[in-house]
Amino acid sequence: MTKRITVAIDGPAAAGKSTLARRIASKLGYTYVDTGAMYRAVALWALRTKVAVSDMHRLEQLAKEARIEFKPGTNAVLLNGEDVSEAIRAPEIAGAASEISRIPAVRRELVHKQRAMGEQASVVMEGRDIGSVVFPNATVKIFLDAEPQERSDRRARESALPAEVVAEQIHERDRRDRTRNESPLVQAPDAVYVDTTGLSIDEVEAALLKLIRDRTSNGKERTN
Ligand code: C5P
Repeated sequence: MTKRITVAIDGPAAAGKSTLARRIASKLGYTYVDTGAMYRAVALWALRTKVAVSDMHRLEQLAKEARIEFKPGTNAVLLNGEDVSEAIRAPEIAGAASEISRIPAVRRELVHKQRAMGEQASVVMEGRDIGSVVFPNATVKIFLDAEPQERSDRRARESALPAEVVAEQIHERDRRDRTRNESPLVQAPDAVYVDTTGLSIDEVEAALLKLIRDRTSNGKERTN
């Protein structure tokens, strides 16, 4: 049997998880899974269909019924067949995703989908609870972080909003993600902490690839 490799990358907002996870997946030939995009897709569907963030039952249904796909070889995220890659990046969707991600039944449904993806292929999966909840036995766990100022500067450069507004949004989202009862953002005890403050993406990528290759047979799936 071929042993699947699971690389779990967790950390706060704008720590560079998506960029790095995507690059690493492409280098190693694994599937990249952006779990934040899954929470965002359900939040988008809820906003479009006017389901309130307090309506736990309907939100659970949406999470269960949502067909979320990552188009291989592209950055596209599909919700029920529609390309929502841009729509899910709106700031109000980030806030709504953080709200609905507090609901245990929503998390249960999405975690179920995430585990199924990890069973089909070797993955680099990034989010908030991958090493702690989704794949407690992940092959490699990384907790990616950076100083709050640097994280909000990075996000502000990609945004049309004033820097103070972006900083406040990130701060509020991290607070909510760290303090919720259900699967809060925590560093798994066996995760490697990587502080990316002041480092270039290339430098972090090299460090992460070395870590993964050291802990696997040079990144290759093994046959048991
Ligand atoms: O990573 P991203 O910023 O796209 O995630 C959006 C929101 O989805 C996060 O603020 C968090 O509330 C939620 N999320 C989560 N668990 C994950 C991934 C994202 O709760 N594994």
